[in-house]
Amino acid sequence: MDIMVGQALFLFVCFILSCFLIISTTRSRRRSLGATVTPPGPPRLPIIGNMHLVGMNPHRSFADLSKTYGPVMSLKLGFLNSVVISSPEAARVVLRTHDQLLSSRSSNNSIRSINHEELSVVWLPSSSARWRLLRKLSATQVFSPQRLEATKDLRVKKMKELVSFMSESSEREEAVDISRASFITTLNIISNILFSVDLGSYDSKKFNEFQDMVIGVMEAVGNPDAANYFPFLRFLDLHGNSKKMRDSCESLLKVFHGFIEAKIGEKSVRSNPKDVVDALLDLTKGDEAELNTNDIEHFILDLFTAGTDTSSSTVEWAMTELLRNPKTMTKTQAEIDRVIGQNGVVQESDISELPYLQAVVKETFRLHPAAPLLVPRKAESDVQVLGFLVSKDTQVLVNVWAIGRDPSVWENPDRFEPERFLGKEIDVKGRDYELTPFGAGRRICPGLPLAVKTVSHARFASLFL
Ligand code: HEM
Repeated sequence: MDIMVGQALFLFVCFILSCFLIISTTRSRRRSLGATVTPPGPPRLPIIGNMHLVGMNPHRSFADLSKTYGPVMSLKLGFLNSVVISSPEAARVVLRTHDQLLSSRSSNNSIRSINHEELSVVWLPSSSARWRLLRKLSATQVFSPQRLEATKDLRVKKMKELVSFMSESSEREEAVDISRASFITTLNIISNILFSVDLGSYDSKKFNEFQDMVIGVMEAVGNPDAANYFPFLRFLDLHGNSKKMRDSCESLLKVFHGFIEAKIGEKSVRSNPKDVVDALLDLTKGDEAELNTNDIEHFILDLFTAGTDTSSSTVEWAMTELLRNPKTMTKTQAEIDRVIGQNGVVQESDISELPYLQAVVKETFRLHPAAPLLVPRKAESDVQVLGFLVSKDTQVLVNVWAIGRDPSVWENPDRFEPERFLGKEIDVKGRDYELTPFGAGRRICPGLPLAVKTVSHARFASLFL
């Protein structure tokens, strides 16, 4: 008897779950906004929604799914409603037509664990006055043409150090860890622009604590975390991401605090601002000060975490593609020899004379965008994208990785062929929606001018051995 009751109960539960599944997969909700339909998407399971369809590389899983469900696709990831964009037309609507309404951010569990979303230029909504101030400071104090011009020699110096390190390693017949070497170069470029010191060292015997802290933050933000999809699990910190984030950020903020304190001491004897932190400290003075030192520390944290690995992994991919494509390597080398000469000195101004090198960099951005889904955006209100409804608070992911490999956009999309860019106007600056590795619109990467210089120059310098 007990067995029969158990079986009946089991069948009843199965029936309820099946109804739930059928209703959730076949419905096409119509809403008031011009009777718009929610974007199509794969069938959802109870509770987890579509999470079982997302692998270790979500951009690849989403690219596969969008072949079936189209360029505006909805997914339910636990409790999180998401829309994934996978065509240049749809990206244009998100990043340009509705840029303002789709420029909020969907921050994650690790970010919230240190309340960084309240101070961060990356995670604040674009409607916030503080975000506008931080973007203004990025444009005027950090990445302005004047600041970039003033730090030109510094970047050349850092590139020469990279070349020397590689030459010496080659003389000693020692293998070079390209990933580490390019990370250290980028780290030192950024740390010198910000506060005039080297934070990284090529010496492998030296324990590179700072590098580990930056990587710790990036891992804590990027690692999978069930709490991002089931907020009620936050307090458990199942994956240890919140702890990692707190530990790494605490250490990094302590380092920045030390530099800032030293700068405040220095500034009492020197009035001219020497670097970005000097300039920002000037804005902390007076009763109407727009910033305090804690704001500066969080701003610096954003610049390091957003700027180092993105730039260095792009250089690493470019190297990898050139090694995999010897003909392209030979052509790149030949162009450099022709324009600069075999023993010439590397200058950033030379890059404009090197169209093939620039095409190599664009091709690297097309195939290997450092942020394949950009940084998650969030809808501030209901919006229509190509006739589909994106409801308020939905997370919007633009799959630039999928767009870069779409055969209807690119010929031979999986091949590394820089020639496709020669003689074409297409660029990465956020106006060509088939190639937006830096995003576009109001949230476009503010570090773009520096990143393009660093990546092109690093490629250039290391080929010049
Ligand atoms: C190859 C190098 C880089 C790539 C591919 C890259 C890519 C991106 C992308 C895709 C976004 C999000 C755009 C969006 O939401 O639409 C972003 C935002 C950002 N990037 Fe970069 N980035 C790079 C280098 C840098 C550098 C060097 C810095 C600073 C030193 C930097 C600082 C930032 C900041 C602060 C944001 C947040 C902007 C905001 O949300 O308003 N990035 N970046």
